[in-house]
Amino acid sequence: MTETDMEKRSALLSSAGLDPSRIPKHIAIIMDGNGRWAQNRGEDRVFGHLNGVESVRAVVEAALQIGVRYLTLYAFSTENWSRPKEEVSALMDLLVKTLNQETDDLKGKGVRLRTIGDLSALPDNCQQQLKTTEKSKTENVSLDLILALNYSAKWEITEAVKGVLRDGLDEDEVDIEKFETYLQTNGLPDPELMIRTSGEHRISNFMLWQLAYAEFHFTPVLWPDFRGEHFLAAIHDFQNRERRFGGVPQQTVK
Ligand code: FPP
Repeated sequence: MTETDMEKRSALLSSAGLDPSRIPKHIAIIMDGNGRWAQNRGEDRVFGHLNGVESVRAVVEAALQIGVRYLTLYAFSTENWSRPKEEVSALMDLLVKTLNQETDDLKGKGVRLRTIGDLSALPDNCQQQLKTTEKSKTENVSLDLILALNYSAKWEITEAVKGVLRDGLDEDEVDIEKFETYLQTNGLPDPELMIRTSGEHRISNFMLWQLAYAEFHFTPVLWPDFRGEHFLAAIHDFQNRERRFGGVPQQTVK
């Protein structure tokens, strides 16, 4: 990071009233409201997804600017297959097209792509594109962008249990740390902040294990309207929370 970049970062953080020492390392987002955004404009739902890509760009840019190290986006859940097949295939095409367009730019900016979820059910061209983008690794990683694709937490946990059984582990060999190595997120820190857009207050089968102690930020903003300023506002909200991890407030500790 150049000196100018550092100056820009501290100017941005101070204008947003953020404490640079308490930027969440890992933020997870449930991007919701694309369909409603489009329908509000008398357009097809797919139009909402198309515009949602701009919000993905804005959030990746903001994460890079302020130094968030891991960003997980819930792009397609195992339940999303139940949508009309035209919408599912438009979403897959959009993913391929966007990754294809952005691969070089992501690499240049120090963004490394990783996925969580069962990719084997995705169309072949989608799997191929994901491999290509993942392979095009950057030397100095600034941000790990994790796309949750054909992902659900219940699926992930079930697969982890199967992995433990497959490896024939004894009961006394399985503890929290060991179990986590069987999750899709192996090696990643847990998100400290989870953002959900569009006014829905649900977790929708997303990172049930990893969000155990996360702070939740719900905003009525529909995903295609979500921009850097909303992302910073969510972090501001996070910084005003008191995180106790099951303990007691700091001032009551004697
Ligand atoms: C939820 O809105 C959104 C999705 C299921 C898809 C998210 C996909 C994108 C933002 C575009 C592609 C992503 C990448 C990473 C390139 P919804 O359709 O459930 O909205 P609704 O609740 O208003 O119907």
